[in-house]
Amino acid sequence: MDLDAAVADIDLVSMAFWARPPAERLAAFARLRALDHPVFFTEPRVPLVRAGRGFHALVRHADVAEAGRNAKVFSSEPAATSPEPPPWISLVFGTPMVNMDDPRHARLRRIVSRAFSPKMLTRLERDIETTAARIVDDVVHAGAGDFVEQVAARLPIHVICAMMGIPHELRPRVLGHIDAMTAYSGVRGSLTSARTLRLLGANLKAIVELHRLVARLGRQRMREPREDLVSALVNANVEGEALSVRELGSFFDLLLVAGNETTRNALAHGLKLFTDHPDQRALLLSDYDRRAAGAIEELIRYVSPIIQFRRTLTREYELGGHAFAAGDKVVLFYISANRDKAVFAEPDVFDITRSPNPHLGFGGPGPHLCLGANLARMELKIMFRELFGRLPDVRAVGEPRWLLSSFDNGIRRLPFASVR
Ligand code: HEM
Repeated sequence: MDLDAAVADIDLVSMAFWARPPAERLAAFARLRALDHPVFFTEPRVPLVRAGRGFHALVRHADVAEAGRNAKVFSSEPAATSPEPPPWISLVFGTPMVNMDDPRHARLRRIVSRAFSPKMLTRLERDIETTAARIVDDVVHAGAGDFVEQVAARLPIHVICAMMGIPHELRPRVLGHIDAMTAYSGVRGSLTSARTLRLLGANLKAIVELHRLVARLGRQRMREPREDLVSALVNANVEGEALSVRELGSFFDLLLVAGNETTRNALAHGLKLFTDHPDQRALLLSDYDRRAAGAIEELIRYVSPIIQFRRTLTREYELGGHAFAAGDKVVLFYISANRDKAVFAEPDVFDITRSPNPHLGFGGPGPHLCLGANLARMELKIMFRELFGRLPDVRAVGEPRWLLSSFDNGIRRLPFASVR
């Protein structure tokens, strides 16, 4: 049997593949990693989305890391997602920096890094602690329910709204728009055209509303700057750099897309993992402050909340045993790189003491490395400290309902109970 025939049953572009149980998908990636070259997949047509030409799947840690690091060859333009959004999306809503190369990307990243400075994070820390305490108060009161709705979904969105200075009275509206955006991105590609179109329509309307809301806030802060992030972003710094109101809208979308679903899924997976691995939970709780940082890195490695991002080659290049041509697409499967036994001993073991832990869950070591990684780490650390500190017996009590997606490794529902 030739090598590719050994993996002919693996179809990474079919939603049927992503509907398979997580362990089966991981076993499929292990078989792809064993090949001596990346496999090509042809993309199906998705309504209103540009037909893809297909891509090679990068599945080994070394290949994914190199593609992330070498951004001159592995470009994030015209888009780092797969399938690729049609060009009119960028024309109407602007281009998020995740879909840009340097120097355009570097300019935006320099400006928005103000949002993630140690000073900003310290300011947010107290806010996160208060919110986490309030969420756990509600959990103590409820005793049981759905962990995603009652815990995991609440913290990240609150943090992003707090960062952007969205007034409290506007937050329910913002949440409604975000739900519309999530409903579309979570199920894309798996639906009949009519339903996809309806969800897409609601998604676009939500983006327009969010842009309007943030643009209004941006214009206010240009007129009357305050001590908040939006003021810092729209008013020029000493180098004369600032975001335009349109760029501000695009940045807010990116925060919502990048920082909401990801952290929510990491929290939900965390409860599941610390239920399934009582030894690791006992170890964590035996000395939380010392163990938490390692536990969070291992959680991100083991789960890979973001399954993949894409790149387009700018020139001929050889990687992982394949000669690529300019214009070829590759998809960087972070979820596979994080289980590569060439880098991680016993990669399928969840071990919170793993060290070193050079996982790629926050992306490769290149210009697009997750800007919110430290914020996400802080949210996870505070939430689990509050939760396990006050409810040491809180646990998942049923199977998760998985999100059907080839992008977010998501959990939609997770029954939990706590014993006081
Ligand atoms: C567990 C949580 C998170 C995970 C697993 C995660 C993962 C990732 C990954 C894999 C990338 C790389 C994109 C690429 O390859 O092109 C990325 C980029 C990014 N993330 Fe995160 N992320 C998380 C949380 C957050 C949070 C909380 C924020 C902000 C509120 C955030 C903001 C961003 C931004 C702005 C980028 C784009 C960076 C650039 O293009 O320069 N992320 N993230």
